[in-house]
Amino acid sequence: MYTHLQSKARELPPITISTLRKMKADGEKIACITAYDASFATVVDNAGVDLVLVGDSLGMVIQGHDTTIPVSMDEMIYHCKSTLRGLYRPFLVADLPFMSYSTPDQAATNSARLMQEGKASMVKLEGGAPQLHVVEHLAKCDIPICAHIGLTPQSVHKLGGFRVQGRHADDAKEMVQAAVDLESAGADMVLLECIPNDLALRIHDAVSVPTIGIGAGPEVDGQILVLYDVLDITPGRKPRFAKNFLAGRDSVRDAVTAYVEAVKTGAYPAPEHCFE
Ligand code: KIV
Repeated sequence: MYTHLQSKARELPPITISTLRKMKADGEKIACITAYDASFATVVDNAGVDLVLVGDSLGMVIQGHDTTIPVSMDEMIYHCKSTLRGLYRPFLVADLPFMSYSTPDQAATNSARLMQEGKASMVKLEGGAPQLHVVEHLAKCDIPICAHIGLTPQSVHKLGGFRVQGRHADDAKEMVQAAVDLESAGADMVLLECIPNDLALRIHDAVSVPTIGIGAGPEVDGQILVLYDVLDITPGRKPRFAKNFLAGRDSVRDAVTAYVEAVKTGAYPAPEHCFE
C-alpha cells in the first residue's frame, strides 16, 4: 500500500538527530506535528514535516478521553508501529505514557519497547527536576530523549487544569534551571508547552539542544501542533495556540503543507497564538 515510500527514493534523506541539530544551528525552523496512523503519516511526510510525534494526545483525539492519562504502553506501541509504516523522511518521536517512567529501570524498559517494537528514534517524557535521574539513566543507555516541560498534560490533575505555566517569576526561574539541568542530564531536545514567549526565549538561550514549542511563542527552534488541531477536528474547546490550516484549502495535504510553510517562514505562531 505504501509504495510512495519506494517511489520517493529520495531527494531528501531521512531526518536524524544530527539534521535537527544542524537545522537549529542554521536557523531553519523545525516543523513538527503529531500523527497516530499510517495514512496521516504519509500525508504529513509528503507535506514536508520534519518531525512526527506519536503523542499520548491520542488518548484525547483518537480515544475520546478527557486527558492523556488513560493511554497505555501497548496502545502507544500500536500507534507507533502504524505511524512508522507511513513515514520515510520525518524523525519519529514517541511519548512515554503516564506512569511508564516512574523509575529509571521502568523508563528504560518502556523506552526500549518504543524504540525496538515501535521503531521510534526518540522518546519524550514529561517533567522537569523530578525526572533528572530518569533522563540520566536513559542517556546512559543511549536512548535519545525529548524533555517536555511547561504545561505537562499528564499532570493535569496536579496542575488543576490545562493552564499556562511559568507566569510567576519564581516558577519561570525554576523552569529555566530545569531545562539546563535536563540538558546536562542528557536530554537531546526540550519541548515547551503553554508558556509565555519571554520565558521560552530565556530557555532557548539557556540550552544548546533544539527547543520545540507549542503555545510557547516564536522564539524557539521549531513548532509542534496536534494534527487534529491543524485540521480543526479536535472536539471541544480549542487551545489559544491551535490554528485551523484547512480553512480555505481543498485537502489535508494542502493544510499540512501550509502549516509547514508557516512554521518555516515564521508566519506561525502569530501573536494571537501566544501567551504573554
Ligand atoms: O501528546 C502530544 O501530542 C504532545 C504535544 C502536545 C506536544 O505532547
